[in-house]
Amino acid sequence: MTRRLLIAGNWKMNGLLQQARKLGEELASLFKEEKSPSFDMLVCPPFTALSAVQEALKDSGILLGGQDCHFKESGAHTGDISPVMLKDVGCDAVILGHSERRQDHGETSALVREKATAAHKEGLLTVICVGETEAQRDAGETLSVVGEQVRDSLPEESSANNTVIAYEPVWAIGTGKVASVQDVAEVHAFIRSEIEKVLGKENAEKMRILYGGSVKPSNAKELLSLEDVDGALVGGASLKSDDFWAIAKSQD
Ligand code: 13P
Repeated sequence: MTRRLLIAGNWKMNGLLQQARKLGEELASLFKEEKSPSFDMLVCPPFTALSAVQEALKDSGILLGGQDCHFKESGAHTGDISPVMLKDVGCDAVILGHSERRQDHGETSALVREKATAAHKEGLLTVICVGETEAQRDAGETLSVVGEQVRDSLPEESSANNTVIAYEPVWAIGTGKVASVQDVAEVHAFIRSEIEKVLGKENAEKMRILYGGSVKPSNAKELLSLEDVDGALVGGASLKSDDFWAIAKSQD
């Protein structure tokens, strides 16, 4: 089964308008120069920069995503953004259930599931994040935690066409610590088996599973060459076009 690689950048709370536009323009020109790219590329700027980055990416083929959304279409939800709004500003995708949302905003897998259903209704590709904390890994709970997050976060209508899973061990995010290739291979294969339990064999075979957590140009090739690793969700290194591009091209 060949799954097309997805190289996704999560800019998190970074990027004022001028920098965001510049980064978008640099990536758009690199992607356009590539005659037939062997990977999909997605960038997820903060909400305030979505419109500017949408302009910068126009017609480049790079996908645009939000970093979260509410499960309602509109209404009295101060500070929230709906999937309809993401669609309206030109988004193709949305990241849901990132560990920083789970930790900072108390998001549960049940909530992630509701958000995913709302996003799917708008035709957005959902990038659903799962991953264990260091304490959970030390306690030998990695597979049970990740398995539960996968089963509980995926709504019934999820398929390989509307959903991507991102495995991001919390202790590897922004720390420079990367999970070993053995650990990544084990968890990704396990996630695929969990997807099969809830969505069937075909979706499990086709669904892309990204790795995230201190991915950089120097370790991307090894991680992306693993059988069940179908791309990367990149934080820090997605803020520099050279680094992000080098990660995307590391398989060539
Ligand atoms: P870093 O690449 O900065 O470790 O962040 C990973 C991440 O959280 C992407 O969503």
